[in-house]
Amino acid sequence: MIINESQKVGKVYLLGAGPGDPGLLTIKGKTLLELAEVVIYDALVSKEILGMINPYAEKINAGKRRGNHSLLQLETTQLLIQKAKEHAIVVRLKGGDPFVFGRGGEEMTDLMAEGIPVEVIPGITAGIAAPAYANIPVTHRGYSSSVTFVTGHESAGKYRPDVNWKAIALGSETIVIYMGIHNLSHIIPELKEGGLDEKTQIALIRWGTTPAQEELYGTLGDILDQVETTGFSAPAIAIIGKVVGLKMKNQE
Ligand SMILES: C[S@@+](CC[C@H](N)C(=O)[O-])C[C@H]1O[C@@H](n2cnc3c(N)ncnc32)[C@H](O)[C@@H]1O
Repeated sequence: MIINESQKVGKVYLLGAGPGDPGLLTIKGKTLLELAEVVIYDALVSKEILGMINPYAEKINAGKRRGNHSLLQLETTQLLIQKAKEHAIVVRLKGGDPFVFGRGGEEMTDLMAEGIPVEVIPGITAGIAAPAYANIPVTHRGYSSSVTFVTGHESAGKYRPDVNWKAIALGSETIVIYMGIHNLSHIIPELKEGGLDEKTQIALIRWGTTPAQEELYGTLGDILDQVETTGFSAPAIAIIGKVVGLKMKNQE
């Protein structure tokens, strides 16, 4: 597509690819992939969704580029700026939702500071979709009226404010933790100190919504041992609270 003089720069679409199942990509998202001239995508985006991209588009894997995390982010933003100056439709394709632990907000801010128009197309986030595919509702009448989405990444304090686990423990009836599997040995004692009982139920869901989905069920008292014995690993989310028990009840 030719960019005319009045337009000067193209537009960057921050597009959520959803959690894994290609059927969870929005119709708007699919249309954009078909029209895109450049697509810069992240590591967790499925092959099927990458297969929907306009065959003539330039495809760039942002997940595979070298350097440390902050350099990688800077490089990606600079690349987006450069591509938006050369093309009309530039898609930044991210796993799940771009604004949920996806650095979409940072990219939007940097692009806007350069005068580049940005449009955000939400995606279905893993923290809702993975429990849904495991038949766990994140809220449920009589079980949970509130849900917190929180990062369990060890370096949360570096990129985002530190997580106040003790406040979260009793502040929300369902807790959904992203990027927390490697840090559960720190998170669980904090949640217990914050007032959660040993018997509080927890589910871990790995590769949610894909054919490789794996689930591990336990309590705050035994999940660490289970993770160790099974070798359960990322990418996974943790769901904590009574809603996990609803799944067990429905299976009885
Ligand atoms: C950088 S965050 C990005 C989250 C994404 N923006 C979203 O809205 O789902 C990556 C983390 O999301 C979670 N995640 C993403 N896809 C997942 C999936 N299919 N199953 C389970 N967890 C997933 C994992 O905790 C993973 O480490």
